[in-house]
Amino acid sequence: MSGYVARVRHDDLPGSDAEFDLLVTSVAQRWAAIDPLLPEPLPPRPSGYPLLTVSNGPGSPVATGTMRYSWYQPGEVGRTWGVPDQHWLTPVVGGPDPGRALDSLITSWREQLEQLPTGTGSESAALITWPARDICGVVPLQRHGLQPQRILAARQHRRGVPPSLPPRDVTIRLAEMQDLTQVVGLLMEEHRYEEHFGGVFIQPETPEQTRRVVMRALGRSPSWIWLAERRGRPVGLIWVSPPERARWAAPLVSTGPAAHIGYGLVTEDERGNGIGTALVSHAHQALDSYGVSVTLLNYAVMNPLSGPFWNRMGYRPIWMTWEVRPALALR
Ligand SMILES: CC(C)(COP(=O)(O)OP(=O)(O)OC[C@H]1O[C@@H](n2cnc3c(N)ncnc32)[C@H](O)[C@@H]1OP(=O)(O)O)[C@@H](O)C(=O)NCCC(=O)NCCS
Repeated sequence: MSGYVARVRHDDLPGSDAEFDLLVTSVAQRWAAIDPLLPEPLPPRPSGYPLLTVSNGPGSPVATGTMRYSWYQPGEVGRTWGVPDQHWLTPVVGGPDPGRALDSLITSWREQLEQLPTGTGSESAALITWPARDICGVVPLQRHGLQPQRILAARQHRRGVPPSLPPRDVTIRLAEMQDLTQVVGLLMEEHRYEEHFGGVFIQPETPEQTRRVVMRALGRSPSWIWLAERRGRPVGLIWVSPPERARWAAPLVSTGPAAHIGYGLVTEDERGNGIGTALVSHAHQALDSYGVSVTLLNYAVMNPLSGPFWNRMGYRPIWMTWEVRPALALR
């Protein structure tokens, strides 16, 4: 990896702002060519977090990475969705050989993690979110021991399967407050299924925390949660956040308004009968007529049902989150 120099700064940016702007402009062009749904990369700005930089021979930056640390206490909602100690790197990688620049950046990140006094024990992880179509990063990420864990996928307006009806005896309707217990029960079934893929960790507090979030959603009209029932028995649901409840998702894509699907589940005994497709069809009709330009959702790479299903529904990967546990297993 000769020729590239890695540094870490905790205060101002090394080099001039103009050099970083040039890097960001070149990365923006590369991303736009790779995937029109990617947003513009954000320029690294002093944020209080350590900033790693990689420079070429003449000293111009070819990569930057902002280190961020999230720590979740027992009982916090975040504990259901990840390990307690999470070390994130937000990379902006360019130059003539972005794969090599990423490789140097991760090497420098590993050195920084090693020097941390705490937070890198057995319940820690190192995580990077990388554009799914930026394939030059795959081998460097693998070489450092990272594994693809989650995919953020997008479906553009009107993409996907034609409208479809549920099977006989199954009806679909918007959920209301009276459905609270049933909705929580279905979501807990999805959590239990997702636990198998290492991205969900059910905590003693998870059912109650889920109940609180569901109560809030069902208190709004419409709830944007569709419930499938077979002769009155709940058999599946889809939970949509329209753009005004999914503002956090907007910066992840180049187009908007952006909505998000948080949950999609059909009970185990009812899968493969077309109920999931019919639920998605309801949600898509509502989203398309609401003027939503792009709908996003996450799924675990190792989930054998979700990837093929969502792909068939018109979704394709934009971002991939790579992870290694514990954090110091990063090579
Ligand atoms: C993903 C999930 C919601 C799909 O629900 P489903 O009711 O099984 O979905 P469908 O029956 O409409 O489609 C599933 C498969 O059955 C097939 N199928 C069988 N009969 C069908 C019918 N009558 N109509 C449509 N599809 C049918 C489809 O081709 C489809 O295959 P594919 O996904 O490999 O392309 C469901 O599998 C599930 O709950 N999984 C566990 C939780 C989960 O993974 N959720 C997603 C987390 S992001």
